[in-house]
Amino acid sequence: MALCFFSNGLKIRSPKVRNLKSTYVFQQPISQNQLNLPLNLSEPTKIYKKNSCFSVKASASPSLETTKSSFRNKNPKDINVLVVGSTGYIGKYVVKELINRGFNVISVARENSGIRGKTSKEETLEQLQGAKICFSDVTDLGVLETSLQNYGSSIDVVVSCLASRSGGIKDSWKIDYEATKNSLLAGKKFGASHFVLLSAICVQKPLLEFQRAKLKFEAELMEEAQNENGVTYSIVRPTAFFKSLGGQVELVKQGKPYVMFGDGKLCACKPISEQDLASFIADCVLSEDKVNQVLPIGGPGKALTPLEQGEMLHRLAGKEPKFLKVPIGIMDFAIGVLDALVKVFPSLEDTAEFGKIGRYYAAESMLVLDPETGKYSADKTPSYGNDTLEDFFAKVLRDGMAGQELGEQTIF
Ligand SMILES: NC(=O)c1ccc[n+]([C@@H]2O[C@H](COP(=O)([O-])OP(=O)(O)OC[C@H]3O[C@@H](n4cnc5c(N)ncnc54)[C@H](OP(=O)(O)O)[C@@H]3O)[C@@H](O)[C@H]2O)c1
Repeated sequence: MALCFFSNGLKIRSPKVRNLKSTYVFQQPISQNQLNLPLNLSEPTKIYKKNSCFSVKASASPSLETTKSSFRNKNPKDINVLVVGSTGYIGKYVVKELINRGFNVISVARENSGIRGKTSKEETLEQLQGAKICFSDVTDLGVLETSLQNYGSSIDVVVSCLASRSGGIKDSWKIDYEATKNSLLAGKKFGASHFVLLSAICVQKPLLEFQRAKLKFEAELMEEAQNENGVTYSIVRPTAFFKSLGGQVELVKQGKPYVMFGDGKLCACKPISEQDLASFIADCVLSEDKVNQVLPIGGPGKALTPLEQGEMLHRLAGKEPKFLKVPIGIMDFAIGVLDALVKVFPSLEDTAEFGKIGRYYAAESMLVLDPETGKYSADKTPSYGNDTLEDFFAKVLRDGMAGQELGEQTIF
């Protein structure tokens, strides 16, 4: 069964209780069996273990209903924010940002997290210091609910930074749709009244399976908000992350050409740093003007094409600009071949999907698609934050890509 840790200890609270100080705090990790406590405590009770001793106090419990939508009136330290996808590139920063803003953060994580599950439980506890960690399985609603019940805290807001690490077809539906929906259902069950979703700007033009999975969840979340007692939402649709644009820094540093498709002007984006995006996502927890909104968001400055990014990179690296221009038709040909092969070898469906993902990002801008013109618009893409791609490139040229690793298929 999944257990919930607070940095170096474990907490169990009555799940029915919202904002209560009815907490069992343990300074040493301890299993529920060792405690032999009932899970559903109707009378909230405090038990403190200090130096292997327990002290027990009773306290009163307000009903869930009375506090249902009033979390914005509370002090951040009394607002419980559940973060799923807390071990991802953005999730980690979101957790830090929420902690810095004083929220009570509960992070759901896998025991082996990170790219290819390389991060151990102990490393996760270290990485997410300051948050209460709930080791669980977001892909199984029953397990997730039991974990949260064992954790025992009510939830005010859910923030989802979940995403398929591979972008494969089945995995996208499992994570970007099902697991995200599980988080909504579990969050609701424990009192959440607001859901902040990290989505992607590219869902505006859905040609890929992960975009369809995200859009299905977005639609259900919006429908949910129509219900009288439904959860409200903030759907954040960012443009490109820095990590997605840093893959050629090392090549240019070594004097190799910058690779781009067509004339390098087929697409553009307003890149945003993980810190700035985390800050924007954290704003969505309390900002009334972000309630029930779909929020496209980019970083500061003008939109940049791959050609402009390549020129910037060469300048910063002190190299003569060198480009390798690849005709986009090559990708179309490869995708055509893969699609044909999938008919004979269905197991190649993810490989074909990865080809389509590559093609999509080579030609589609990560900017707001203006419904009036049907064209991508840099002007209509809001900017947020301070971190620039130029500073990021300079840092990667100096220090390397540590912490900016791409996902399992090196596409995200
Ligand atoms: N890359 C870009 O430029 C870009 C631009 C705009 C929007 N986006 C969107 O931003 C989102 C998040 O990106 P990111 O880079 O932060 O993602 P990421 O680093 O791949 O993190 C994904 C998170 O989801 C969790 N997860 C994945 N599969 C899971 C599973 N089977 N069970 C439990 N948890 C699982 C991961 O947990 P583990 O650590 O345990 O694996 C991790 O916490 C994506 O939706 C993406 O579409 C990306």
